Amino acid sequence: MPTDASLPLRHIAVIMDGNGRWAEKRGLPRSEGHRAGAEAVRGLIAECRKLGLEYLTLYAFSRENWGRPMEEVRLLFDLLARFLGSELAELQRQDIRLQALGDLGGLPFASRTALTHSIAKTKNNASMVLNLALNYSGRHEIASACRRLMAEGLSPEEVTPEKLSEYLFTAGQPDPDLVIRTSGEQRISNFLLFQCAYSEFYFTDTLWPDFTPEELHLAMADYTGRSRRFGKTGDCS
Ligand code: FPP
Repeated sequence: MPTDASLPLRHIAVIMDGNGRWAEKRGLPRSEGHRAGAEAVRGLIAECRKLGLEYLTLYAFSRENWGRPMEEVRLLFDLLARFLGSELAELQRQDIRLQALGDLGGLPFASRTALTHSIAKTKNNASMVLNLALNYSGRHEIASACRRLMAEGLSPEEVTPEKLSEYLFTAGQPDPDLVIRTSGEQRISNFLLFQCAYSEFYFTDTLWPDFTPEELHLAMADYTGRSRRFGKTGDCS
């Protein structure tokens, strides 16, 4: 990862899009696209760990994704449960801590169990945090943070952006420096709405299953050429 102090790259977040189109292009069922997508996830995690990234966040299932055909939803959660089962040893070996962003109570039992098991087993790992956004919605996350602030009786003056961020799923984590979206779509789709305030965005036409480590390097090289001003002018230190 670039270590230039003026352009840190600690946290990458990815909207993995295009599994269905990848499959359609090959005359395959959408399920094959998701399977190939899971392979790309494996490759990306390994590459990010190798490069020394501190946080990697993957948008794996949004709240809105429940609107997909039931069969596809079931397949996605089966894939997730199997992925977690097969990858736990690798997460341990690579000292990666797994965390989840989203309302896990709504997940099917098998994937929720696999998830909580992997989260517990990896909780002391410290080389990289892997956030899986599941049953996630940025708007719900913010609304739920506000509800909890109110339930705890905070006064209006105490409700600051810093305070609110302590009630998000990402509490304690740095905001994403770089958000990547694959498949040519250029929108945020309810992803990390609060946390992306000053993230840099990188859009590529590459479909998610084709997103290789080389594609990651292209995104990083592009990011390295950016000038991040966080609302200031280039002259401010
Ligand atoms: C978007 O492609 C992708 C998803 C909705 C789910 C992402 C899931 C994976 C990458 C596979 C499994 C994940 C893990 C963590 C093991 P799409 O179906 O919307 O593609 P389309 O826009 O071309 O139809």
